[in-house]
Amino acid sequence: MSRATTRQAPSVGAPLLAFDRVSFDYEGRVALDGASFEVRRGEAVALAGPNGCGKSTALRLAAGLAHPSRGTVTFDGDRIDAAALARQGFAKRFHQRVGLVFQDPDVQLFCPSVAEEVSFGPRQMGLPADEASRRTDDALRLFGLGDLADRAPYQLSGGERKKVALACVVSMAPELLLLDEPTAALDEDSEAEVAEFLRAYVAAGHSVLATTHDRSLVSALGAREVRLDKRHHVVLPPEPCPATRPAPPMRF
Ligand SMILES: Nc1ncnc2c1ncn2[C@@H]1O[C@H](COP(=O)(O)OP(=O)(O)OP(=O)(O)O)[C@@H](O)[C@H]1O
Ligand SMILES: [Mg+2]
Repeated sequence: MSRATTRQAPSVGAPLLAFDRVSFDYEGRVALDGASFEVRRGEAVALAGPNGCGKSTALRLAAGLAHPSRGTVTFDGDRIDAAALARQGFAKRFHQRVGLVFQDPDVQLFCPSVAEEVSFGPRQMGLPADEASRRTDDALRLFGLGDLADRAPYQLSGGERKKVALACVVSMAPELLLLDEPTAALDEDSEAEVAEFLRAYVAAGHSVLATTHDRSLVSALGAREVRLDKRHHVVLPPEPCPATRPAPPMRF
């Protein structure tokens, strides 16, 4: 594990997601190069960096939608690779425990109505009907979507679609919530509501890994920042400022 993983808040728990020297390329175009970082239980981590540095790619790898060309991704101690996800029981459990909200909500929405969209996950999880319906109602209310429940997702605005995508994943209450630019396209009030929800979600012991260019979200969440650079490397945390180092002994 790289030195970038060593700064931890004291109250967070054991590592839940770990990238160990992960590289990935799209047919030769490098997207991640030897990236190491981790997300602990009950921790919020903001994945930051310039356009094209590999943030969305890292989330796809964390969600098991793609696999490293080198290095390993582990979740709760289990290596996430094609062999693990080919085991049906493992894959089902993994997809219940880890949820990804895509940068572009259209990738994720496919049901004829918002209510069906949000209830899809809880129903797939095999929850009793009343529990699935409670989770759906909670998620709709949480993101202010009650009035849109009967609407077709493709007829909604970009910000409304983003909130539906968030509600869909949150309704499954994943232990690790992966968010790709969660506040992009949201107005100020919605942005504040999402930040408030995420803060409570983390305080309840869940983990969040969010890519974002939104500084106010990072500070509202109290998130630890992991930064990628243009070369697709994790940037190490800065060395302590020289002024804070003990002064060398004086010699006469
Ligand atoms: N499907 C793809 N095929 C080929 N190259 C891709 C593909 N998706 C991403 N890339 C390339 O991989 C690199 C990392 O892309 P990625 O989408 O992970 O960046 P990002 O950090 O999320 O950027 P942004 O801030 O713009 O969302 C970029 O150089 C991008 O052009
Ligand atoms: Mg991206």
